[in-house]
Amino acid sequence: AQSAKESLYIVSQYASAFFVKQLWETEEGKGIGLSYFKERGFREDILKKFEVGYSPDVWDAMTQSAINAGHNLEFLEATGLSIKNDNGKIYDRFRGRVMFPIHNFTGRIIGFGGRTLKTDKNVPKYVNSPESEIYHKSNVLYGLFHAKKAIRDTDNCYLAEGYADVLSVHQAGIENVVASSGTSLTVEQIKLIGRFTQNVTILFDGDAAGIKASLRGLDMILEEGLNVKIVSFPDGHDPDSYMHHVGAGAFKTYLEQNRKDFILYKANVLLKDAGDDPIKRAGIIRDIVESIAKIPDQIKASVFIRECSSLLEIEERILLTELNKMRSAKS
Ligand code: CTP
Ligand code: MN
Ligand code: MN
Ligand code: MN
Ligand code: MN
Repeated sequence: AQSAKESLYIVSQYASAFFVKQLWETEEGKGIGLSYFKERGFREDILKKFEVGYSPDVWDAMTQSAINAGHNLEFLEATGLSIKNDNGKIYDRFRGRVMFPIHNFTGRIIGFGGRTLKTDKNVPKYVNSPESEIYHKSNVLYGLFHAKKAIRDTDNCYLAEGYADVLSVHQAGIENVVASSGTSLTVEQIKLIGRFTQNVTILFDGDAAGIKASLRGLDMILEEGLNVKIVSFPDGHDPDSYMHHVGAGAFKTYLEQNRKDFILYKANVLLKDAGDDPIKRAGIIRDIVESIAKIPDQIKASVFIRECSSLLEIEERILLTELNKMRSAKS
């Protein structure tokens, strides 16, 4: 007999094919879903590659279709695709949304993110699949299946926040990109990247939340022993919006010319707030040394100490003393 897990993969694949068909072949899907993607500037080949779809704005269209095709409600419920309310009535989790299927790194569909088409602030922008026997969101990177070869070939992984970012960076011809999507970056996700490359370039949103997440993310990446660089975007832009704003060619150039190592990035971000206040500046230096102290490789750490010393005009000796204090406090 088929394992329960296998059954969950099968209903997820069924649902994905259903959403794809809705997007390309129905009046509602074409009129609302496909035109939405086109208005955002997505090319058809990218939409097809990522198997995006549309969930009709109907109570239980997907569930009924799956059951009619012989699928078992128990498995549909176990993936979270179908939900039973208190009265025992079954409904679809995803309704009236554009759908992003989430693949595991062997290419099987394990969950979905559904984006609303409404601008109403009370409607959650994204609804995601819940945790299930096949979907553990902290262990998954969106886009990894489509990126892994390019990550190996280029020996670098671009790390973005969202689904649309992954599609747009691909559309610019850059395929080594994944997103943490729907979760703040986890150690498991970093370890997953580490199976393909030791080099991560963070491309988080250029808003306060994205900057905060990038500072946290870079420390976590350093702690796992990987190298990290950061490209930041003008306020209000994320990789998706910026790619469509400047175009593919300029976007590629931007990534190449604005890649900063974490010291320079962190110094830029923190010095903006500190101004000339010497006490604040001292705090920043300590904060940067704290990041350096997370690097397991001592030789690498000493290289960054030297950079920090020249950038912030502080004697290397003082920074090293601070570094050693932090290291011994840790162990
Ligand atoms: N996210 C989520 N639930 C939300 C908001 C965000 O799961 N309510 C996740 C999604 O994976 C999303 C990512 O966090 O892609 C980044 O969030 P955000 O920057 O707000 O969305 P974008 O990806 O920029 O979405 P879009 O461009 O479609 O507006
Ligand atoms: Mn499991
Ligand atoms: Mn954001
Ligand atoms: Mn965003
Ligand atoms: Mn966006």
